[in-house]
Amino acid sequence: MAISLKNKIVFITGASSGMGYACAEHFAKKGAKLIIAARRFDRLVQLAQTLELNYNTHVLPLALDVSNHNAVSQAIESLENEWKNIDILINNAGISLSSDKLQDTAIEKWDAMIKTNVNGLLYVTKAILPTMLVKNSGHIINIGSLTAHYVFAGSNIYAATKHAVKAITQALRVDLLGTNIRVSQIDPGATETEFSFIRWGDENKAKAFYKKMKALEAADIAQAIIFCATRNRKINIDSLIINNIDMAGTYHAHAGKENHSTIFD
Ligand SMILES: NC(=O)c1ccc[n+]([C@@H]2O[C@H](COP(=O)([O-])OP(=O)(O)OC[C@H]3O[C@@H](n4cnc5c(N)ncnc54)[C@H](OP(=O)(O)O)[C@@H]3O)[C@@H](O)[C@H]2O)c1
Repeated sequence: MAISLKNKIVFITGASSGMGYACAEHFAKKGAKLIIAARRFDRLVQLAQTLELNYNTHVLPLALDVSNHNAVSQAIESLENEWKNIDILINNAGISLSSDKLQDTAIEKWDAMIKTNVNGLLYVTKAILPTMLVKNSGHIINIGSLTAHYVFAGSNIYAATKHAVKAITQALRVDLLGTNIRVSQIDPGATETEFSFIRWGDENKAKAFYKKMKALEAADIAQAIIFCATRNRKINIDSLIINNIDMAGTYHAHAGKENHSTIFD
């Protein structure tokens, strides 16, 4: 039987856009109380107001750069009592800043991807885990990627960060064995969000990319996350790879043709 999310406290990173935003909507609809975090605070404030109005729940917007360790510890330490008892953490904040060859990508871009996708996920997890351990329950849901499983031309550093996320998810599961804390990973394929605009800084290029296939929508991923979070407590969904119908791994089909190409071709 599915478990209820009513009044559960859900902490979502990267909630100002895309999958994080969609998760906020889906969890609010189920009656969960939300802490929504990202750097663009104005967007969070607006989202919090909309969700509180539409779903009669409590939503706390939190300005947070997950790649800043001190900021993460301070933000979580200074949560008021009402918000401290986090039940579900969705580690969703993440970026890609390039699809160029590794040797052609600026070191600053490598660093930003690693600091956000790996360090950021670790900092938030480390700050929230102690409360989960004390009450011996909780669920950590990490957002990986297809590139946690397959690399393809131009995916280099980003794929490395998502391979790291997969290793962290698996290792944390092992480290938490014997507790009732669950750890899951959702690995989406191409999903139409602001992600590719951030990657290339070119809106037309981003739109054209998603047009090449039946791209997933952020809501498709949010629904899968709700599924994981609502399974009976003895069930741990270890990982879900979610691709669109036109793709197998990172190869996509051209209608009626047999010479499939990789995602960026
Ligand atoms: N879209 C895809 O095709 C795709 C496929 C596979 C996996 N993913 C993964 O899915 C997750 C969500 O991406 P999305 O597609 O929803 O992209 P998106 O629309 O660009 O959203 C990314 C979110 O991450 C936040 N973020 C980025 N850097 C941050 C930082 N340093 N501190 C706090 N928040 C930060 C952004 O908020 P602020 O800018 O306001 O901070 C934004 O809310 C990411 O982990 C991404 O790697 C995406």
